[in-house]
Amino acid sequence: MLAIFVGLALCLAGSVYTEEGVNWVLLVAGSNEYYNYRHQADICHAYQIVHKYGIPDERIIVMMYDDIANNSQNTMKGKIINQPGGPDVYEGVLKDYTKKLVTPDNFLKVLQGKEMAVGSKKTIQSGPNDNIFVYFSDHGAPGIVAFPDGSALHASDLNKAILSMHANKQYKNMVFYIEACESGSMFEDLLPVNINVYATTAANSEESSYACYYDSKLKTYLGDLYSVNWLEDSDKEDIYTETLDEQFRLVKKLTNLSHAMEYGDLSMSSVFKVSDFQAERGQVYTPSLSMTRLQPRSDLVKSEDVRLEILHRRLAEENDQIVRQSLLQEIQDVQRMKNLAINVIKGIARSLVKSQNLDLNSLLNTRKKLTNHECYKPVVDHLINKCFSLKNDHVLRNLYILVNLCESGVLAENINYTIDKLCPSKFFE
Ligand SMILES: *[C@@H]1O[C@H](CO)[C@@H](O)[C@H](O)[C@H]1NC(C)=O
Ligand SMILES: *[C@@H]1O[C@H](CO)[C@@H](O)[C@H](O)[C@H]1NC(C)=O
Ligand SMILES: *[C@@H]1O[C@H](CO)[C@@H](O)[C@H](O)[C@H]1NC(C)=O
Repeated sequence: MLAIFVGLALCLAGSVYTEEGVNWVLLVAGSNEYYNYRHQADICHAYQIVHKYGIPDERIIVMMYDDIANNSQNTMKGKIINQPGGPDVYEGVLKDYTKKLVTPDNFLKVLQGKEMAVGSKKTIQSGPNDNIFVYFSDHGAPGIVAFPDGSALHASDLNKAILSMHANKQYKNMVFYIEACESGSMFEDLLPVNINVYATTAANSEESSYACYYDSKLKTYLGDLYSVNWLEDSDKEDIYTETLDEQFRLVKKLTNLSHAMEYGDLSMSSVFKVSDFQAERGQVYTPSLSMTRLQPRSDLVKSEDVRLEILHRRLAEENDQIVRQSLLQEIQDVQRMKNLAINVIKGIARSLVKSQNLDLNSLLNTRKKLTNHECYKPVVDHLINKCFSLKNDHVLRNLYILVNLCESGVLAENINYTIDKLCPSKFFE
């Protein structure tokens, strides 16, 4: 009798610190606007997977801008798909943090279980026996993933948060999947191998990741290559027997234009099943239908070329002269912003070459490994404040030049000063 009461009391106290532990999931789309449809589609699809494998909504947190389903350009109003002819993945998706609440700060708070005063206020309330699965789909750059407001989540801050969670016994095992350009740089030389964290990324620390599935009716890309590779695998595979390592190897093979990478405690990957992170524990769900069917990953394109590629495809199919004019204008604007981003960031290097006695050619044409986060982080934040936000892929693709400057020993103070000179006011958001 006493045992029953104690058991009941434990149940009523919530599932937070159960002996056997539970699984938590945090899903984040780091972009907005219709041409970035694919990131939110990936995230919605991920929600459908962990939902169908029984993880209750109380332990899933979704951060996404939520401007796609009802977007004026969306011809399937109220729906989002992640594969050509695929099912709606938007139905039922949680809206814990949307619009302006999708920020690096809020992400770090939610992950670490800190109190939130906005959105659904849900956070990862995990204990020492719990597993956590975190999946991002996003734009990235060296040591950075971007957020919809154009600000950056820095690799150094993410890894600091992970270390603090480890010290506070906030998880038993944690897994990160990150889709972004140069996403390896979020963990390379930063994530320890002995704190029960395993991470895989869509690309190494110096290359683009790839979008896929252009849909000519929706006029946008529906998914990202690394992401749809793991999502479609989790959909159709028996994730109760498939190990993390087996999923990674398959994804790596299929993600054939970038190098999918793994970091942290690699020994975890052969020990744990995919279901240890993507399914509710202690129950086996056999979903009657797979969300997706197998099909070739079509229309692969580098993340930074997506916006222009969409515009060119639209132009090629458009007969209306007025619409053609506005598409041409938009192409020009995107090109102008691209050139501006390249010129300003290269200009920062050019301005510093003489006084710092540096080799311009190697600053612009080689890639040093990011180690000096103390220089790089404030300098990137300064560039965002003064010149342009990180919403532009061509800004992101050229941040390696700031890495090179920091790694060449130029002081953050001097780079900041040069940024002030070259960006008297912000060029674009
Ligand atoms: C989308 O539109 C529907 C119907 O007008 C509305 O109920 C829903 O709240 C809208 N969702 C968003 C995210 O704006
Ligand atoms: C990569 O795989 C896709 C199919 O998923 C194929 O169309 C493409 O040719 C492959 N590219 C390379 C370089 O192997
Ligand atoms: C550079 O700028 C950033 C962002 O504006 C600021 O936080 C930082 O203190 C500056 N660093 C130096 C050394 O001036």
